[in-house]
Amino acid sequence: MTGPAATTATAGRVVHVVGARPNFIKAAPVIDALAALEVPQWLVHTGQHYDPLLSDVFFRDLGLPAPDVSLGVGSGSHGHQTGALLAALEDEFVARPPAWVVVYGDVNSTLAAALVCAKLLIPVAHVEAGLRSFDVTMPEEVNRRLTDVVADLLFVTSPEGVDHLRAEGVDPARIEMVGNPMIDTLLRHLDRFDPGPVRERLGVPERYAVATLHRPANVDTPEAAGRLVAALRELAARLPVVLPLHPRGRGRLEAAGLREVAGIAVIEPLGYLEFLSLVRGAAVVVTDSGGIQEETTVLRIPCLTLRPNTERPVTITHGTNRLVEPEALGPMVDAALRGELAGPAEGPPLWDGHAGERIAAILAARLRG
Ligand code: UD1
Ligand code: UDP
Repeated sequence: MTGPAATTATAGRVVHVVGARPNFIKAAPVIDALAALEVPQWLVHTGQHYDPLLSDVFFRDLGLPAPDVSLGVGSGSHGHQTGALLAALEDEFVARPPAWVVVYGDVNSTLAAALVCAKLLIPVAHVEAGLRSFDVTMPEEVNRRLTDVVADLLFVTSPEGVDHLRAEGVDPARIEMVGNPMIDTLLRHLDRFDPGPVRERLGVPERYAVATLHRPANVDTPEAAGRLVAALRELAARLPVVLPLHPRGRGRLEAAGLREVAGIAVIEPLGYLEFLSLVRGAAVVVTDSGGIQEETTVLRIPCLTLRPNTERPVTITHGTNRLVEPEALGPMVDAALRGELAGPAEGPPLWDGHAGERIAAILAARLRG
C-alpha cells in the first residue's frame, strides 16, 4: 500500500466509478448534470461487466462518454473480484487523486471504490444510499451497508432510505434525499421506447410478458433454478414470454430445462433502449432485478418480483410491484392480467427526472467549499 493520496486532487476532478450494467444507467444523468455545471470529471470503468451487451451497448444507447480509464478487472468469486478491484482502483487513485469519487448502487465495484477512498482519505459520494433488504444473504445488501458506512455523502432515492440511515445512526448532515437518477434516464429517453421495432425484430406478438432472472438466490443452485423454470412454465402457459437472459443464470436455468419450455423466447441480454421498449409494451414483467422494479413502477407496467424481500418497498407502496413466491406466480399473473396490480396515481416522491441535477448541484457546492 502506497499510503494516503497526495492532497492536491487532480484538477479538482470528480471521478465516477462504474462497472456493471445498472451503474451506467444511474451515472448518465449525474455526468450530464455535472457537465452542464462545467465541473471537471472522469469516468473509470472497472470492467466488472465486459460483454458488449452488458457494457458497450449502454454507452451507445445513453450517449455516455467513453471511459477515461478502463481497469479490465473482469469476473471472479467475490473475494477475488473485490480484491482485484481494490488493487486496481487504489493504483488509479494514487496515480491521479480525485477531488471526489461518486459510486453507484450496490455492486462489488461500488463497495471496492468506496473502501479505497476511505483508506486514501478521498471524499466519496454514494448514489442510491440507504436501500435495505435486511437480507444479508444477498451480496448487494453487504455492499450497500458497508458502502454507506464509509461514504461521506449519501444520496438517497426514496424516503425509507433516509429512515434506514437515521436508524443506523448516520449523521443527518451526510444524507441528501435527491430522487432517483435511474428514473432520470428513463424519463429522458421515454420518447425512444417504442415496442414496435423490437417486437418485429424478435417476432414477438402484441400481447406478451418480459422476464429477467439473475439473482444468485434464484439461479446459483439447481434446486432454485428448477423452481424458477417451473414458475416460468406457468407464466408461458398464460402468454408468450421474452426472456433476455443474463449470463449468470444461463447454465443452471438451461440445465433445469428452460429451453424446453414452450412459449419462452430465450434471447441474449438487450440494450437499454430495446429492453425498455419491450417492457413498455408488455402486459406483465416477471423479474428479480432491482432496477426493473423501479422502471415498471414509473411505466405503470405490472411487475411480479420473484424474491422474498425487496430493498425497494416504495415500488410496492407507490407502484406496480408485488413480491411473489415462484409457486404462486401463475395466479398472480392472472391477477395482473385482470388489471388488479395498478399502482396508486401518485408515484414515489422526487422521481421527477431531476435527481442528477440535484446531485450535481450538491457536489459542485462541496467542490467549491
Ligand atoms: C452483478 C451485481 C448485481 C447486479 C448485476 C447487474 C455484484 C455482487 N453483483 O451481478 O448486484 O444486479 O451485476 O447485472 O456486484 N459475466 C459474463 N460477462 C460479463 C460479466 C459477467 O459472462 O460481462 C458472467 C461471468 O460468468 C461472471 C458472472 O456473469 O462470473 C457474474 O458476474 P458478476 O459481475 O460477478 O455478477 P453479476 O451476477 O453480473
Ligand atoms: N436491462 C437491459 N437489458 C436487459 C435487462 C435489463 O437494458 O436485457 C436494464 C434494465 O432496464 C435496468 C437495468 O438493466 O435498467 C437493471 O440491471 P440488472 O437487472 O442487471 O441489475 P439490478 O438492477 O438488479 O442490479
